[in-house]
Amino acid sequence: MNDLAATSTSSPAAKHLPDAQTVTSVKHWTDRLFSFRVTRPQSLRFRSGEFVMIGLLGENGKPLLRAYSIASPSWDEELEFYSIKVPDGPLTSKLQHIQPGDEIILRPKPVGTLVHDALLPGKRLWFLATGTGIAPFASLMREPETYEKYEEIYMLHTCRTLAELEYGRELVESLKDDPLIGEMIGDKLRYYPTTTREESPLMGRITDNLESGRIFDHYGIAPMNPATDRAMVCGSLAFNVDVKEVLEAFGLREGANSDPKEYVVEKAFVGDGI
Ligand code: FAD
Ligand code: A2P
Repeated sequence: MNDLAATSTSSPAAKHLPDAQTVTSVKHWTDRLFSFRVTRPQSLRFRSGEFVMIGLLGENGKPLLRAYSIASPSWDEELEFYSIKVPDGPLTSKLQHIQPGDEIILRPKPVGTLVHDALLPGKRLWFLATGTGIAPFASLMREPETYEKYEEIYMLHTCRTLAELEYGRELVESLKDDPLIGEMIGDKLRYYPTTTREESPLMGRITDNLESGRIFDHYGIAPMNPATDRAMVCGSLAFNVDVKEVLEAFGLREGANSDPKEYVVEKAFVGDGI
C-alpha cells in the first residue's frame, strides 16, 4: 500500500471487497484529466469499447460507483481508464488522488454499444469523440479486430485546448511502434485532433468539419456514404445529438448490439440536470 494512500484515496476497507483491484500506475495530463491502470480480474472478459462500473468506498462505507469506459484493449493484461477530475464530483474529487498500490472497486460486468458487433461490415470506420469520450476509442484503436475489419480508420478528437488532446496524441504516436499491432495498423489509422478554443494546426468542431466537408478534403476522400462508412460516437449529450443529425444526413442509421447498422453512440458522461 502506498504511503500516501491513508491521506488520499480508497479507504482500507476496500481491501475486503471482492471486487477490489490494485492501481499500478497513474498519469496526470492536466489539472482536469488523468489516466490510470489497474490489475485485471482474471475472469474479466470484455469487448473493446465497453464500459464497467468503478469506484471507491464512500463516506457511508458503501461503494460509490460510476460508469467508465475501459480505455485498454481486450487483450491487455491490465485495465486502463482515462478520467475527468470534477472538483466537487462525489467520485472524482477522491479518485484523482489515487496512487500506485491503492485499491479501487471494479464491478466486472462490461456493457456498451461502442463495439464492432453493433456495426454492419464496412470499409471506413470513424471514431468521433470530444473530451474523455476518446476513452473507448483508446481501446478500439489498440484492438486488432479494428484493422482486420476496416481499410481506413479515422480518429477525430476535439477538445478546447491542445493540452486536453495530449493523452490521445501520445497514444496514437505510440501505436506506430507497438510490437503487437503496429504492423497491422500501417497507414490505416488517420488521426485528426482539433481544438476549438486554442490555436492549433487543425481547428474546429467535429460537426462543422464533417458538414463543411473539410475533413474529406483534408484526406482527399469521398464524403460519408452508408455503403462504405461506419461510425462510433462518444461525447457530451449535446455533441452526440448534433453528430447524430450530421450522420443521418449522410444516410447512416443508428444501430445497436441487437440490431447492427451504420453508426452507434454512447454518452461520455451524464451532464448536469440530464
Ligand atoms: P458526477 O456527479 O458523476 O458528475 C458531475 C458533473 O460533472 C456531471 O453532471 C457533468 O456535468 C460533469 N462530468 C462528469 N463526467 C464528465 C466527463 N467525463 N467529462 C466532462 N464532464 C463530466 N468519465 C470519465 O472521466 N471517463 C470515462 O471513461 C467515462 N466513461 C463513461 C461511460 C458512460 C457510459 C457514462 C454514462 C459515463 C462515463 N463517465 C466517464 C462519467 C463518469 O461516470 C462520472 O460522471 C465521472 O467520473 C464524474 O464522477 P463524479 O462522481 O466525480 O461526478
Ligand atoms: P466548443 O469549444 O466550440 O464548445 P466541453 O469541454 O464543453 O465538454 O467540449 C469539448 C469539446 O467539444 C469542445 O471543443 C467543444 O467545442 C466541443 N463541443 C461541445 N458541444 C458540441 C456540440 N454540440 N457539437 C460539436 N462539438 C461540440
